[in-house]
Amino acid sequence: MENIKAYVQEHKDRFINELIELLKIPSVSADTAYSHDVFETADAVKASLEKAGCDFVEICDTPGYPIVYGEKIIDPALPTVLVYGHYDVQPPDPIELWTSPPFEPVIKKTEIHPEGAIFARGSCDDKGQMYMHVKALEYMVQSNTLPCNVKFMIEGEEEIGSKSLSWFVERNQEKLKNDVILISDTGMISNQQPSITTGLRGLSYVEVEVTGPNRDLHSGLYGGAVANPINVLSKMIASLHDENNHITIPGFYDNVAELSLEERAEMAKAPFNLENYKKALDLNDVYGEKGYVTNERNSIRPTLDVNGIWGGYTGEGAKTVIASKAFAKISMRLVPNQDWEEITELFTKHFTSLAPAGVTVKVKPHHGGQGYVTPIDSIGYKAANMAYTETFGVPAIPVRSGGSIPIVALFEKELKSKTILMGFGLDSDAIHSPNEHFGIFNYLKGIETIPLFYKYFVELSK
Ligand code: BES
Ligand code: MN
Ligand code: MN
Repeated sequence: MENIKAYVQEHKDRFINELIELLKIPSVSADTAYSHDVFETADAVKASLEKAGCDFVEICDTPGYPIVYGEKIIDPALPTVLVYGHYDVQPPDPIELWTSPPFEPVIKKTEIHPEGAIFARGSCDDKGQMYMHVKALEYMVQSNTLPCNVKFMIEGEEEIGSKSLSWFVERNQEKLKNDVILISDTGMISNQQPSITTGLRGLSYVEVEVTGPNRDLHSGLYGGAVANPINVLSKMIASLHDENNHITIPGFYDNVAELSLEERAEMAKAPFNLENYKKALDLNDVYGEKGYVTNERNSIRPTLDVNGIWGGYTGEGAKTVIASKAFAKISMRLVPNQDWEEITELFTKHFTSLAPAGVTVKVKPHHGGQGYVTPIDSIGYKAANMAYTETFGVPAIPVRSGGSIPIVALFEKELKSKTILMGFGLDSDAIHSPNEHFGIFNYLKGIETIPLFYKYFVELSK
């Protein structure tokens, strides 16, 4: 494998340019205005897998956006790695906050990325990280070092809940048979300290609607005499947390898997600097559930957050009005053993019960998924750690992430295999935010590290 470093050095400009081409296609799955681009991106991914050396690649149609499936089977008796990634991206807005257009990738240097980073929507989440696997395959095929079988499954609906992928996985268990699932769609601690994500939070996402009068009213003529849906919604939302920032929904914590003090002490060993954390976000303090520190609040604890809230008049100047309706989008991040459908029900029941006379409330569930934890004594984890240790010079630290990839729990249920989350992004890469970027260092290190995972996974599987 000494050659992988040399191969990356020799081909890095091409690797970067290929990724840039992929990033130019605005594959925003949430907005149907981009539908054509999402399909076009699937075609581009297919072509890249063919070029990299897959023996068979197909676009699998689904009720939604297609899944790109590719494989190279060298010997059915050998282990099979299933690579998952997504080619869809988040909407780019607020577009005015980007320092360069989201779908015109440029390389810029930053404090954290002195070698430069590619700025574009999807550069880190997940086109850049997904494409590392395509280039790692290219290397292994070119150098004749692919030690096992490989399957790729790249979807286009991850950012909107992976509905079609669930549909696809349920119908293709045999085709997707594998010994380990490998995903790069998470992050690591820093470019000096790699980490392996051992947990993901689950998710329940709902939208609520509070209706008062049947039309918008003059806030002088009617103010004080009828329920104002925005006032009421604000009160209802405020009551969802108590003074300790615990969530007040009855039963919400019933199944939460609590960590032992030993496990929490182990977690606290991961490098973390609260002052830098605050500084990076321009915060005068952190905020959260009493009794837990920042790294626990955003990983092993469930949360409830309003993601958007609207109603009434928000245009220029003042308009005196009591709106007929108020809305909010609310997400709950869940931890192992919390069932997302059960939590959605508990939320609905509780939230509806909060409504005072004078309004009606509707709760519309969007999507969700279960959390995930993976053991650190599996062959896959060990192989990943050996790979990172070799390319970074230090072992990786296991870290539970606060983000969600709901499909991972479904993989375990349907395909009965464990997932290894080898992420190369950084929290500061601004995924889902304006100015998303992915370090050139991270991109190339990923390409370098992945073939070593294959090597060690096959060795340890013997
Ligand atoms: N890649 C992210 C999830 C992620 C990022 C996990 C960083 C851990 C570290 C993924 O694309 C994502 O954004 N997931 C959504 C959930 C989905 C159902 C919309 C999320 O976490 O909000
Ligand atoms: Mn992602
Ligand atoms: Mn995402």
